[in-house]
Formats: sequence, structure tokens, C-alpha cells
Amino acid sequence: MKIIILRGVSCSGKTALEHMVTSGETHLVNVPQLKDEAGAFHRYVTLVELTQALEAGDLRAVAEGEGDTFIVDTCIHAEKVVEAFPDAEITQVALVTSWPLLLARRRLRYILAGVRAGVVQNWPRSIRQATGFSGPNYVEQMTLPGVPTTWVDTSDYPWEVIPSERVRATLSPSYVQPDLGDPKELYQQALHIGGEWRGNDARIEFERGRQDVVLPEVCDGMAVMDIGCSEGGFLYEVLNRGAAYTLGVEIRDPQLDLMKRVRNGTYLPLSTANVNIDKHPLPSLTGAGGAEAQWDLILLLNILHRVVDPAAVLKGALSKSKQVVVEAPFYMGLSPCKPEGSHHPGTWHLPPAWVKGVAEANGFEVVSIAVGPHAQDQRLVYHLKWRNGNNGYS
Ligand SMILES: C[S@@+](CC[C@H](N)C(=O)[O-])C[C@H]1O[C@@H](n2cnc3c(N)ncnc32)[C@H](O)[C@@H]1O
Repeated sequence: MKIIILRGVSCSGKTALEHMVTSGETHLVNVPQLKDEAGAFHRYVTLVELTQALEAGDLRAVAEGEGDTFIVDTCIHAEKVVEAFPDAEITQVALVTSWPLLLARRRLRYILAGVRAGVVQNWPRSIRQATGFSGPNYVEQMTLPGVPTTWVDTSDYPWEVIPSERVRATLSPSYVQPDLGDPKELYQQALHIGGEWRGNDARIEFERGRQDVVLPEVCDGMAVMDIGCSEGGFLYEVLNRGAAYTLGVEIRDPQLDLMKRVRNGTYLPLSTANVNIDKHPLPSLTGAGGAEAQWDLILLLNILHRVVDPAAVLKGALSKSKQVVVEAPFYMGLSPCKPEGSHHPGTWHLPPAWVKGVAEANGFEVVSIAVGPHAQDQRLVYHLKWRNGNNGYS
């Protein structure tokens, strides 16, 4: 029998890993040690199951059932598992992320549990808890001595194995002004990072205008996902406006690398996800107790017209968020089509009536439709808000 023990401090990602494993989101976790030869995850034993078995006085009961390798989510019972299974081959997978991201995730957890963002921001307890385990000695405290260890960085999706020599630098990155390279090489967006405009100067006014049409004026404590985020321009701006945590979904490597460089150098609470949304579901947000939480805001800006199935992607976003903002080319019809004469030939144009229909079928209402500065004759910006079961008037 083989046992893989998960290790990691609070908010390092153990319960999120459980969620991804049990819901089959294998595109978000690239850890060969957790999979069998066919690529399927080994059987997962939750902390609750383990605690119940321990209380019933028979820890070995958790090993009954299919398969001879199982993953146990436990830091607190790790020694007891080792004691109870002297015959097993035991390894450990240790989840790590940088202390600024850990701090942000812990703050978000308090906010998701109902504590106001402003209180959490000024709450010494949250800062102490987040930084308490983040010094250099954290590495020694994290693992069971003598048990072979695989280190996994949970900062960005897919979560990846890292060599042990990279663990300390991952936990405590150095603060450096990020080198943005040559703006003309990369930036489609101008980037408002920490209140300072960087990158493509020629687009500052344009981006400022778009941000004001798309984003709430105040984003205090919000968790925001931007799908097809390019260089992350909208995420830096929601952070300027008070967001607690952000996730940028992209498929282009140079854009993903740039976001990680900015994040590592500035300590901004930003993660990236290298996910092809034509093929895979979106990452979830894990709240208190490991429960799936709703994102406060998901952005779908100038991306729906390029995907294979705009309805599937829009529904996926609506199922995970309380607000969704869509920016897309429109035409006056009933269902999406790829019209002649578009600025971007071969892309979908979405009728406002169709956007409204998909929103309403999924419990959302269209609270406004605006003309953005982007290709004014062709694009509209829709603000969609979850109705939370009411009739839209209360
Ligand atoms: C037209 S750009 C829009 C960028 C940004 N949302 C904006 O409005 O400034 C579309 C972005 O979506 C990304 N993208 C396209 N197809 C994608 C897919 N299937 N999965 C994830 N990202 C995708 C592209 O790499 C590109 O950065």
C-alpha cells in the first residue's frame, strides 16, 4: 500500500486540491506523483474522513476500498497515519506559495466568511497568522523528517512540482521593480500597476476610459477573475480599487510570464491560470472550510467572440460569480453569428437579446449596457448581476 500525505499551512491549497481532485479538474494540477499510470488521481481521503476514523479508534479503516494508493489531507494527523500504517510506503506532497499570496488568501478567507474588508485589512491577527510561518525556517517545519517529499508551488495554475532548491525563494520572493522589457514587444494594454502607468503609453487614455466603463468604482475586498486577461491590465486596476485577490486566465506564455514577473516583484495578490477555456472548466474559488465560493466579479472582455462556444463559456462564468462583465461585438439579431464585414473576420457577434436570454436563464439580470471606447460601432459592454433569487425589484 502507498500513502501520500498532503502537507501545507492554512490557505496553501490543500482543500482546493481536494476540490480539484474530486471534481476531476486535472488540468489545474500537474503533479505526476498524485496520479496513477493512466493519469487518474489516486483515491483521496479527506481530513473529515480521517478525523472520524481516528475518533472511531480505527485509522486503518480509511484504507479499505478500491485502489492501493491513497492521498490523505492531513497535517495534524500525519504522525498518527505514519504510526498506523507501518507496512505502507509513505511519501509527502508539500504545498507552498509565497508569503504575500498566502497573506492575500487568508485575508480573502476572512472576507468570504463575512468579515468586512476594511476590518481584515487593518486586523493584526490576519497579518500575524499569514506571516507567522513564512520565514526561512518554514521549510523545516513543513515536512515530516525522513519521509520523501515532493514540493508543489500553488501560486499559479496548473500547480507544478518545483525542485527543493527553489522552495525558499518561492516562499519569500525578493521585492524588485519588475522589468517590463520593451512595451512595444508585448503590450496590447497599458498597465496601471500600483497606481503608476507602465508599458504602452499610447494606450493610457484608451485603457483608462475602458476601465471606467467596465469596473466598479470601488472593489474593496473583492475576488476577481479575468478570463482572456492578456497582460492583466484590468486586474492591476481592480487591485488599485481595493480588490483582495485576483486571478488572470490566459493561454499565451509571454503574457503569463509578464504577470508572474510583476506579481513576484510587487507582492500584488495576483495568480495566473494557464487554461484553455475552449477545453477546460474555469478555476473555482475555495472559501472557509473548503467550500466553493462565488467570485465577486468575472470579466469576459473581448474574448467571447473568439471562443468555440460563447454560450458554454458565458454559462461557465455565470455559474461561478455574482457579477459578470462582458465586452463583445454585437449585431441586431437573435443568436450569435459571424457576419461579413466585421473588424475581426470569422469571429462571433452577439446580439444583446441573446446575452440577456443567457443571463436570465442562469439567474442573472442585465443591469446596464454601455458603449465602450473599443470599436464603438461594434462592441458593447454588459453588466450582469446575479439576482440572488429575488425578482429584480426588491
Ligand atoms: C482580444 S484579447 C482581449 C484581452 C483583454 N481581455 C482586453 O479586453 O483587453 C483576447 C485574449 O484572450 C486570450 N485567449 C484567446 N482564446 C483563449 C482561450 N481559449 N483560453 C484562454 N485565453 C484565451 C488571448 O490570448 C488574448 O490575450
